[in-house]
Amino acid sequence: FVLYQVEILDWKTKQQLCFLDKVNDNIVEMAGDSIYCLADPHWYPARQSIRLDPKGKSLRDEEILQHLPVGTTATLYFKDLGPQIGWTMVFLTEYAGPLFIYFLFYFRMPFVYGLNDKLTSSPHPVVNLACICHSFHYIKRLIETIFVHRFSHGTMPLRNIIKNCFYYWGFAAWLAYYINHPLYTPPSYGQNQINFAVIMFLICEAGNFSIHITLSDLRRHGSKIRKIPYPTKNPFTWLFFFVSCPNYTYEVGAWISFTIMTQCVPVGLFTLLCFIQMTVWAKDKHYTYVREFKDYPSIRMAIIPFLL
Ligand SMILES: NC(=O)c1ccc[n+]([C@@H]2O[C@H](COP(=O)([O-])OP(=O)(O)OC[C@H]3O[C@@H](n4cnc5c(N)ncnc54)[C@H](OP(=O)(O)O)[C@@H]3O)[C@@H](O)[C@H]2O)c1
Repeated sequence: FVLYQVEILDWKTKQQLCFLDKVNDNIVEMAGDSIYCLADPHWYPARQSIRLDPKGKSLRDEEILQHLPVGTTATLYFKDLGPQIGWTMVFLTEYAGPLFIYFLFYFRMPFVYGLNDKLTSSPHPVVNLACICHSFHYIKRLIETIFVHRFSHGTMPLRNIIKNCFYYWGFAAWLAYYINHPLYTPPSYGQNQINFAVIMFLICEAGNFSIHITLSDLRRHGSKIRKIPYPTKNPFTWLFFFVSCPNYTYEVGAWISFTIMTQCVPVGLFTLLCFIQMTVWAKDKHYTYVREFKDYPSIRMAIIPFLL
């Protein structure tokens, strides 16, 4: 049973913010203790990033001092993550926003395309199909956020949600404006192109969902630890043989399908941006797996089998 003295420094200025004597807690309890001696009482634990290295990763809440490479006097660094917001609010604003915004264009609210087209509907069946697929995608995400994902953090920084809302809401409006526009023209190869895109879309959505279930099962016993995910009996998860983040591969596939279905340039641009963003995240997650697990399957790439 070892008691520690912990000095907490600001990650940027290296000024001492707090000195805790005789602690042997895990990080989240220590963060709780440190609120009292940090200069600002608004620094509740979820706002605090506590690190071993000023520019390193945050220590996990359940990490305990005994298992860290520190002596009985430890120096840790503190970074303020800014105000936090709970996940309920995050999913409501981020995902319900695009759903609602899309409908404003689909139902052609009077202020959208002018009074001549107010509340009219498109003569092209693919426009109805696109609305169903778009809504399905975001409803699925809402349901997954509530019932499937087991996040390791209970909150998200407020500034992230503002940035994400601009991204998701702005793009939803931009895509919906063009797809539901009175001058929209359906895809060049007609019904064959649409049928192919819908089948691809459904496969990718099922794949994405299967991966989310597999990741959630890794945390069935309430832990917050990241384990190596492996393929299961469900064929949609076999993509785990080849990539570290198949949920992103399927997500990009769903947006590519939506682009083929609508044959619309803004949808293609959004898909490209999603792909770039998810590739950056997937590479980061992939390198973390490789670094953390010596036995990590070497055939796996980050997001695209054998390529990327
Ligand atoms: N269209 C877009 O631009 C876009 C962008 C991002 C995401 N998305 C969609 O949103 C979904 C979720 O995104 P995300 O970035 O949160 O995905 P993610 O990082 O893969 O995480 C999904 C869930 O699985 C958990 N998890 C991940 N790896 C794990 C592991 N090795 N062991 C145990 N649990 C693990 C995560 O917990 P943690 O809390 O620990 O991370 C989280 O709860 C994506 O799959 C995608 O469908 C879309």
